[in-house]
Amino acid sequence: MSKLLISIAMEAEAAPLISALNLSPSTSLFPKALPFLSYEGENLTLITSGKDSVTGVDNVGTVPAALMVSHALSTGDYGTVVNCGTCGGFIKRGMSIGSVMIPSVGAFHDRRIVIPGTKFEEYGVGKREVTNAKADLVRSSLGYVGGCCTSGDSLDHVSTDDTQMDANEAVAKDMEFASIAQVCSLYDVDLVGVKVVTDLVDGDKPSFEEFMENLGTAAKALQETIPRVIEVLKK
Ligand code: ADE
Repeated sequence: MSKLLISIAMEAEAAPLISALNLSPSTSLFPKALPFLSYEGENLTLITSGKDSVTGVDNVGTVPAALMVSHALSTGDYGTVVNCGTCGGFIKRGMSIGSVMIPSVGAFHDRRIVIPGTKFEEYGVGKREVTNAKADLVRSSLGYVGGCCTSGDSLDHVSTDDTQMDANEAVAKDMEFASIAQVCSLYDVDLVGVKVVTDLVDGDKPSFEEFMENLGTAAKALQETIPRVIEVLKK
């Protein structure tokens, strides 16, 4: 099995997994200028986005995600990226709190670049199919659904986002998957996303309230799910 790169944005999402997999901190992967953290285990590296030096909160969002995964792929010899984390889920596509999905498509919902007569609009949506044998195997072995994980840089959503999320037929909404899908496509590395629902995008509660309520439970779900995903990928 080639080496796995597991990327997780938030420390709270990663912490239970770091102890479950018995990983050790390492300082050799990222240069000092980058805030990202890495942990080594048997045939795998887990990376997290670290904290923003100005506000002290986790570096969430599409830019840190792309920068972190791109840097790791440019320096290490990884055959597969496993991008794990929480997401908003769509009730209308069968998701509920705690559901796990393995995306088969990544796309953006907040990059509106409409210039008639050009392909900038399509570029903005940035759809990438994530159909590789490893993601298919994880999905079928563990009985999870696929579909589109739509990404943007906001936790909430406005009506123009809703229109694009519907056009993307989004099952899940996060803040990194589509950018990581683009990076993996550039490096020609397989991507397996593992997304756990903390809040319902088309429900009636504000996303932040449900997200904070369910973050701990989702982190525990990841702690249980990721070792099973790794087992499948070892086959
Ligand atoms: N992560 C967890 N819930 C989310 C949401 N509703 N939007 C974006 N990222 C999320």
